[in-house]
Amino acid sequence: MIDALGLSRGDTVVDLCCGSGQNFADLQRKVGSEGRIVGFDISSQMLAIAADHAERHGWRNVELVEADVADVVLPPDMRAAVSTFGLDIVPDVERIVTQIAAQMPTGTRLGLLGSQEPGGWPDWLVRFGIWLNSACDTEREHLSIRPDATAARILDEATRHDFWWGIFYWSVCRKKGDGPAITTKDTGA
Ligand SMILES: C[S@@+](CC[C@H](N)C(=O)[O-])C[C@H]1O[C@@H](n2cnc3c(N)ncnc32)[C@H](O)[C@@H]1O
Repeated sequence: MIDALGLSRGDTVVDLCCGSGQNFADLQRKVGSEGRIVGFDISSQMLAIAADHAERHGWRNVELVEADVADVVLPPDMRAAVSTFGLDIVPDVERIVTQIAAQMPTGTRLGLLGSQEPGGWPDWLVRFGIWLNSACDTEREHLSIRPDATAARILDEATRHDFWWGIFYWSVCRKKGDGPAITTKDTGA
């Protein structure tokens, strides 16, 4: 999914519901130390772990913002945003994805990774899988929260991939249209 975001060195990338920062290493590989990672999460405890994670790796280009994803203000120079197992656990996801898409500058991408109700599985097997994931707070109702469906409807050029027998998906959509263009960073050069 991260490969499909079109990121280059020096870019700004947003991690929505970043948790403890599990995506930061992969994002760092794309944007480099001259880029920037902005992580949003509602939990100060998770952000403290993310800050520690960044410090241990010596990443000085990580900014962490404590915020409800429903209220985030995206940086105008963002090249892409990701959310992994984040937007698919929040209520009212349709409104939230719509708000995020409205703020995304033209040409930027939104990458989503989440779980979904797998087609053709017997009910007991789905319940067993949810039980196995209970340490991650997975509940059955989360499987029907589908930020990817909203993103595919209101953004363009959707790429998606289902994996692990259809339990998980990733999708990347690109914003075309009339939104604000990306603001290029003033490097001072
Ligand atoms: C399952 S964890 C995923 C963390 C990370 N994205 C990952 O893949 O490891 C979900 C994260 O979403 C955060 N979260 C839940 N509701 C949120 C909200 N309304 N706004 C912002 N963050 C939220 C939680 O605090 C938690 O860190």
